[in-house]
Amino acid sequence: MADVQTTLVLIKPDGVQRSLAGEIITRLERRGLKLVGMKLIQIDEALANRHYEAHVGKPFFPGLVQFITSSPVVALAVQGKNSIEVVRQTMGATDPKSADSGTVRGDLGLDIGRNLVHGSDSPEAAAHELSLFFGSGEIIDWERSIDGWITE
Ligand code: RTP
Ligand code: MG
Repeated sequence: MADVQTTLVLIKPDGVQRSLAGEIITRLERRGLKLVGMKLIQIDEALANRHYEAHVGKPFFPGLVQFITSSPVVALAVQGKNSIEVVRQTMGATDPKSADSGTVRGDLGLDIGRNLVHGSDSPEAAAHELSLFFGSGEIIDWERSIDGWITE
């Protein structure tokens, strides 16, 4: 299908520490998205700098790197029709205080610096970020029997 995309989701250290990884994965799965890669990893400073390179120089950058390297994250490769936009919608606005109810951040978060999840924001970012977190062979192209009940 033409609109199928694969995107990177990170369940950030707060999500893992708060034992919300299962809840967040469940929300993505229930939306109809398909997991094609998943791992628990400890991000080091070099990877954090590459992942957040668009934010280098911003006032919140040092705190962001400190936070994302503070404890393990769950990295997910998530596939589905328009998955980049759909994941961002499911996550909610960056600042949980402005995020809609029904979204991960709106239901489970309070603070912009503890907003639980990351999702790639464009096809270019998704391709780049997936390559940072997953090696060749770590993203699995598998058939799901219910696909015809989720998309035409
Ligand atoms: P993410 O990259 O984590 O998916 O979040 P996002 O696209 O919604 O937000 P982005 O603008 O890319 O910012 C990356 C992360 O930096 C933290 N942030 N803090 N204090 C601030 O003004 C501020 N702005 C951004 C947030 O944790 C955000 O998720
Ligand atoms: Mg972002």
